[in-house]
Amino acid sequence: MAKTLLSALPDGDLRGRRILVRADLNVPLSHGRVSDDTRIQACLPTLRRLTDAGGRVVLLSHLGRPKGTVNPEYSLAPVARALDDALEAPVRFVADLVGPEARAAVESLGDGEILLLENTRFDPRETANDPSLAEALAGYGELYVNDAFGTAHRAHASTEGVARVVRAAGGRAVAGLLLEKELTFLGEALDDPERPFVGVLGGAKISGKIDVVEALLPRVDRLLVGGAMANTFFLAMGLEVGDSLVEPDRVDMARDLLDRAGDKLLLPVDVRVAREIAPDADVRIVPRSEVAAGDRIGDVGPDTEALFADEIRSARTVVWNGPMGVFELDPFRHGTGHLARAVAEAADAGAVTVLGGGDSAAAAEVAGVAERLTHISTGGGASLELLAGRSLPGIDALSDGEAS
Ligand code: 3PG
Repeated sequence: MAKTLLSALPDGDLRGRRILVRADLNVPLSHGRVSDDTRIQACLPTLRRLTDAGGRVVLLSHLGRPKGTVNPEYSLAPVARALDDALEAPVRFVADLVGPEARAAVESLGDGEILLLENTRFDPRETANDPSLAEALAGYGELYVNDAFGTAHRAHASTEGVARVVRAAGGRAVAGLLLEKELTFLGEALDDPERPFVGVLGGAKISGKIDVVEALLPRVDRLLVGGAMANTFFLAMGLEVGDSLVEPDRVDMARDLLDRAGDKLLLPVDVRVAREIAPDADVRIVPRSEVAAGDRIGDVGPDTEALFADEIRSARTVVWNGPMGVFELDPFRHGTGHLARAVAEAADAGAVTVLGGGDSAAAAEVAGVAERLTHISTGGGASLELLAGRSLPGIDALSDGEAS
């Protein structure tokens, strides 16, 4: 069902109104400073749209997992400073969420101003999706905008709960510009992709991505599988994997998938192995049938890179989630870098190229190709859920609308 979109609302619905915005400002911090502001940059269009129209923005986010207690380590204060810099406009911050200080700050907001409140997860009612917190938050705005794609798979008070309260009271809960963009590229675009449509999956575990494999298989023309999740498929094929990371309890599942997928599913034909997955590892390249006892598979090999890159370059739509190897370590970043460059070449040639968040986004940055891709999702878990064809509670709870 199409949701009501912020992009469809006229200025008159925003001017002088108090607008509650849930963003995902869960960004990495290092020494009290934001070390990667990707998610901050991603929510700027929504904030600018609202403030340019004269809205009064009350901004909410979580940061980390402070488990319902106030922990200064997870304060949003450094995020407020980074947001201030990114917007080149003042962002007010109060270290309170629903107490008197927060309420007073909300009351005093002027047109075009932004107030960031403290980490929603300092309150134990947030992750419990407690209606009393959702009601308190709903009282802050005449309109609720959810732009927190990265948290849309969580049914929390500031995501799902508040949207339901707002709607029950006759108000509107709408999708922000980032949420709209994510849904366009990870949802709708994949329903009717330009072909060939190639899926690329990597990362450590089959278990976390099995539903994505299931959902993508009938839609893609090819599914390329690398990373440690390929090892479990190797095991299912009766191959030696040495001491590589595997999920023995998923071998039957892998075997069943191989049977059903036929030649749609491509696995690495060669791999980079070492005795230890370490920064100074002594790496050998071997065909997948020649992994020895004691070896650990850390990356795909050059023949696989060429095979996978050919598939990617001839695609018109590419969806990629998860690295091909342990790309954080120099000896094992080759495969991921090679494929990232192939995806960028496909993008340059006009293909729609979409990357899942988390590790894949980091890999694209490492390979220096992020700018060339069509869309890099800001959601890790949320993008996987969407690719698996599941609905996300934070989106389900929004107002239905004709605009799509
Ligand atoms: C994320 O970084 O994936 C989101 O911000 C959600 O965080 P969570 O996994 O702690 O709910």
